[in-house]
Amino acid sequence: MRTIPDQLLATTLRAIGDGVISCDLENRVVMMNAVAEQLTGWSEVEAAGHTLREVFVIVNETTREIVEDPVDKVRRLGTIVGMANHTLLIRRDGTEIAIDDSAAPVCTDQGEMRGVVLVFRDVTERRRAEWNLDLLARSGKVLLEHRKFSLLLDSIAELTTDHFADFCVLDMVLPSGEIERSVGVHKDPALRALIEELSRFPPVPGQKAHPVIQVLSDGNPQLFPSIDQALLKAVAKNEVQRHHYDRLRIRSAIYVPIVADTKIFGVMTFCRNISPVPFDEEDLSTAVELGHRIGAALDQKNAIESLRKSEARFRQLVEKGNIGIVIGDLAGGHSYINPALMEILGYDKVEALNCDEVTPPQYRRLDLIALEQLKTSGSCVAYEKSYKAKDGTLIPFLVGAAVISDASGEVEEVASFLADLRPQKQAEAALLQSEKLAAVGRLASSISHEINNPLASVTNLLYLIRSDESMSPQSRDYLETADRELIRVSQVAAQTLRFHRQSTRPMTIAPETLMDEVLALYGGRLVNFNINVQREYAPDVQLTCYEGDVRQVLNNLIGNAVDVMRNGGWLRVRTRPSTLWSTGRAGVRITVADTGGGMTPKVAKHIFEAFFTTKGNNGTGLGLWISSRIVHKHQGALKVRTSTANEHRGSVFTLWLPIDLAETSHEPWHKSEGTTVEAPES
Ligand SMILES: Nc1ncnc2c1ncn2[C@@H]1O[C@H](COP(=O)(O)OP(=O)(O)OP(=O)(O)O)[C@@H](O)[C@H]1O
Ligand SMILES: [Mg+2]
Repeated sequence: MRTIPDQLLATTLRAIGDGVISCDLENRVVMMNAVAEQLTGWSEVEAAGHTLREVFVIVNETTREIVEDPVDKVRRLGTIVGMANHTLLIRRDGTEIAIDDSAAPVCTDQGEMRGVVLVFRDVTERRRAEWNLDLLARSGKVLLEHRKFSLLLDSIAELTTDHFADFCVLDMVLPSGEIERSVGVHKDPALRALIEELSRFPPVPGQKAHPVIQVLSDGNPQLFPSIDQALLKAVAKNEVQRHHYDRLRIRSAIYVPIVADTKIFGVMTFCRNISPVPFDEEDLSTAVELGHRIGAALDQKNAIESLRKSEARFRQLVEKGNIGIVIGDLAGGHSYINPALMEILGYDKVEALNCDEVTPPQYRRLDLIALEQLKTSGSCVAYEKSYKAKDGTLIPFLVGAAVISDASGEVEEVASFLADLRPQKQAEAALLQSEKLAAVGRLASSISHEINNPLASVTNLLYLIRSDESMSPQSRDYLETADRELIRVSQVAAQTLRFHRQSTRPMTIAPETLMDEVLALYGGRLVNFNINVQREYAPDVQLTCYEGDVRQVLNNLIGNAVDVMRNGGWLRVRTRPSTLWSTGRAGVRITVADTGGGMTPKVAKHIFEAFFTTKGNNGTGLGLWISSRIVHKHQGALKVRTSTANEHRGSVFTLWLPIDLAETSHEPWHKSEGTTVEAPES
């Protein structure tokens, strides 16, 4: 092999782009090229005679332990050695650069080692790129972990202070629009407290000079390779903050949005105050990417959260609501029936419910029409249909349905909504019934009115007959009786007229007057059934109410009491002033007590429901239902105590009414013609 002259070799080594240092067997530096001079910070002249250890100090990037001297290693192994990965060269001025190197023995032709040559190069740029990639990879992993989001942000901030930044802060926008500093981390534990102190002064929306506010408003990331101290002065809100900035001596900074699509959740700020290396464009793009990744994760988390919330809301609606819901297919099968429908139909197990069986045959045709509409338009026009409950009763429903399709429009399921029409049907029937009652009332008052005129004539005629001197004493007796009965007829006619006259404005009246008027109507029956009436009226009580309405309530209470005492008994009626302790409102308590059979708890539970009667065809079952509505309208209360036990058998109905009906309820309960008609009293 041709020997290369030393001179040529030295020239070659000086010319190459890598740093080259050669040393003798005593480890003393013999030669350094210009690149090596620049990388180590030592000149060849200065280094001459120094040991390699002094000139070329290398440590492990992570552990910071001194790496084995490459010359020692070459001597030990006698071959070319590569250097451990991730090595940092500590330069003469104390700054650090990442290097990659190798060392090789320099031997004579005879193979005798004369020294070692070290070749190394600055890989800071490459390492930084690797670190940035590593940061993205590691933060990606953290984001995938399903942890609490605030902890997740903490972890990512910690990661960024590994190599990327010296400190990192996160300012998040709260739903209120305020900005909250959620995380602030410094790589140097001694400076963490200072960063936390600074968290007390988060940027505020009006601070236009603050880069965080600018990024929040336009979404553009900002790179400050070097920091103008004037900027920090502008950003600081007070002396304390300014002082903290002075202590930190920030050299370089990056501000990036945490963003998903166009929604900006917050801003990440990265600063270097220890590392002298300024942030560059490559760092900026790493930070921007990180901001996007966190934004996407936050967006996804919000989407999952709102999906969870809306799922919970719909579940509540479906499971707790009182509308029946069935999810099924177009073939008529069902995969879900909600508890409300199960309860209405009286089933406790879904398996027991067969859709075909619960639909009476006469509704099949309507179902088929609805099915056709579902297939063609995706929903059907709501229709009325009855279902057969478990106990065989038919329950009316208003049924509507719509198909549920997947993203491609393929029909997946059918959702049907069933509204129980029973209350509505009952109300309709009740209205009809009360219209009928009102019509009867109108008829009764017009009859009374018509009777009054002939009555007056007959009374006059009887008066004239009485003046006939020739009448026998017996005839005179008959005449007296006829006169008394006539007075009774005219009283009943007058009461009936008054009874059905509904005033449009509340009147002030003594409650006992109302009570006596009603009792007068039952006079005959009370005597016939052998019912003793006991009246206990407190004096000087006045009530402002719609007298016709209150009379209707009393009439029903007394009517019911009379109905249960056909074999005699005691009817006790009482009025007395009474203040409602819960509101302090003054009122009147009217009690109607009977010694009839009383009610079992099973009956008592239903008496205020429309159409509940135990009287078969002799009762409509509307009396107490209408009464309770009237009482409600009067802001009063109607209560019952009842017993079937022998010693105190009977029922006590207590009606409480305020003495001054509030302005708001100055409207009769039902404004049907029959009850508001004013019949002239004659
Ligand atoms: N004083 C009472 N004693 C025992 N049962 C009563 C009494 N008052 C009401 N009830 C029971 O309550 C039911 C409902 O009463 P409500 O006045 O609403 O209707 P009704 O009297 O049956 O019919 P209507 O009043 O239309 O003639 C009655 O059928 C009866 O079973
Ligand atoms: Mg009744």
